[in-house]
Amino acid sequence: MESVVLNNGILMPQLGFGVYQIEDANEAVNSVKVALECGYRHIDTAAAYMNERQVGQAIKESGIPREEIFVTTKLWVQDVGYENTKKAFEKSLQRLDVEYIDLYLIHQPYGDVHGSWKAMEELYKEGKIKAIGVSNFSEDRLMDLIAFNEIIPAINQIEVNAFYQHDDLHQFNKSQGVYTEAWAPFAEGRNNLFQNEILAEIGAKYNKSIAQVISRWLVQREIIVLAKSVKEERIRQNLDVFDFELSSEDMKKISELNTGESQFFDHKDPERIKNISNVTFDI
Ligand SMILES: NC(=O)c1ccc[n+]([C@@H]2O[C@H](COP(=O)([O-])OP(=O)(O)OC[C@H]3O[C@@H](n4cnc5c(N)ncnc54)[C@H](OP(=O)(O)O)[C@@H]3O)[C@@H](O)[C@H]2O)c1
Repeated sequence: MESVVLNNGILMPQLGFGVYQIEDANEAVNSVKVALECGYRHIDTAAAYMNERQVGQAIKESGIPREEIFVTTKLWVQDVGYENTKKAFEKSLQRLDVEYIDLYLIHQPYGDVHGSWKAMEELYKEGKIKAIGVSNFSEDRLMDLIAFNEIIPAINQIEVNAFYQHDDLHQFNKSQGVYTEAWAPFAEGRNNLFQNEILAEIGAKYNKSIAQVISRWLVQREIIVLAKSVKEERIRQNLDVFDFELSSEDMKKISELNTGESQFFDHKDPERIKNISNVTFDI
């Protein structure tokens, strides 16, 4: 598995296995175990996904040493602020049943994220987190965090897929030394991604699936890719993207699929912010 080097020198596998919306407990344990067996060494969960326990169980049952697996989890909005973040972090550690987290992210750019960041800086300095970062931060929010704090986020995890390529934010992240990590790289199949003729045509040239073309396109853009699947054949397939290279012509064809619009929702929409801020989980 290829890795990237984060701004603090930490190595992070460029392909990660996402567990969002794997709600059934057995399915969550099994999928993570299969992902680890297939070769994933990077798992992306969140307190809000309600499956940190299952991720921890799968890691234990895999028999793979903890230090060989890169584990990301995230702080939900109900727990922002200095004190709450410290408590929420301890609970995530307990649920995952690990001694440290490789990457801890602020899940959404709302509420007292500065208080959270102070707490995360301290946890990082204590060695309880190997790298700290954010998710769904736009340029202005990212700069606000950078300007008023000591540690620059290692990661900004954002939506990036063929239809919402987010190159402006990716370039901004890069300019600040922040690695871009793509969530929903397949747009969860929206906009008929898996039936897209242009992507299928490109895939046929390299004998690769649409999912592999997309993952490879992100790898070549120097973006970390998170993909979710509960099917072994797809999990295996999604890892198999390091034996081909898309030509610049094919990269250009994919870039032309950009609509410039989120396939999910706009993180700057006031109604959405209001709604998300009220979403709580029994975690
Ligand atoms: N930070 C955030 O706010 C945020 C938001 C969303 C997601 N994420 C993270 O990013 C990860 C990935 O995003 P996502 O789960 O939303 O969506 P995604 O990975 O873009 O898409 C997952 C969907 O694609 C299907 N799929 C996967 N591989 C396939 C293949 N090779 N061929 C055909 N279909 C395939 C899956 O179905 P099957 O499972 O049936 O195979 C599933 O329906 C999440 O799991 C989570 O860790 C973070």
